[in-house]
Amino acid sequence: MTDEPGLERPYTFAEPIPTERLVLRPMRLADADAVHAYQSREDVCRYLLFEPRDRARVAERVTEYVAHDRLERTGDYVQIAVERRSDGRLLGDVYFQLKSVPNRTGEIGWTFHPDHHGQGYASEAARAVLGLAFRRLGLHRVVAELDPRNDASIRLCRRLGLREEAHFVRDLWFRGEWADTGVYAILDEEFARAGEAAPADPD
Ligand SMILES: CC(C)(COP(=O)(O)OP(=O)(O)OC[C@H]1O[C@@H](n2cnc3c(N)ncnc32)[C@H](O)[C@@H]1OP(=O)(O)O)[C@@H](O)C(=O)NCCC(=O)NCCS
Repeated sequence: MTDEPGLERPYTFAEPIPTERLVLRPMRLADADAVHAYQSREDVCRYLLFEPRDRARVAERVTEYVAHDRLERTGDYVQIAVERRSDGRLLGDVYFQLKSVPNRTGEIGWTFHPDHHGQGYASEAARAVLGLAFRRLGLHRVVAELDPRNDASIRLCRRLGLREEAHFVRDLWFRGEWADTGVYAILDEEFARAGEAAPADPD
């Protein structure tokens, strides 16, 4: 049930979201090979909370992603497949979780195949997901948590307009050592202001 006027919640992720070069669409079972191509890599998983996955584990996870298409309650998430329009290739995914319904907060995360880094695809996809979060779901705040050594992810946060809000020191036992956590965030009004300064979304 929607608890605020004008909000599209519960939201079922069924309709693809087009951007200039990409289509954001629900994950499919047939995506397992493409997801395995990046979730199996050491370099991709360096700062992720999971170790490189084999094909069977990826297939299990993709089955779970396919089943999670609804954002209604705290903790609900979608793992959004990011496909390139020009050739239909799956480039990576954007994770989005409804972190707190009462506080209207979401959490975003991203993983792209290294073959497709450095071309602005993650920025383009994540910006569309922030649009979904603020304009359609009516959220107030979106956060990203990351390993502060993950420079590419920090640059992506900044490009999107997320501010560094916290740096927790040695708060996470991560692969045999204590690691730090960085928290970045953007508010609805900040996203709206950034949108006014940027060209309009194609959709
Ligand atoms: C984090 C991650 C998604 C960032 O990917 P990315 O490709 O660097 O990010 P973008 O899509 O925003 O691309 C931006 C880069 O492309 C360049 N670029 C080229 N064409 C561009 C365009 N049309 N628009 C925007 N940027 C463009 C930018 O200059 C920028 O380069 P820079 O970072 O060297 O300054 C990627 O490194 C990744 O998947 N890492 C592994 C998983 C991971 O660690 N996830 C994060 C966990 S917190």
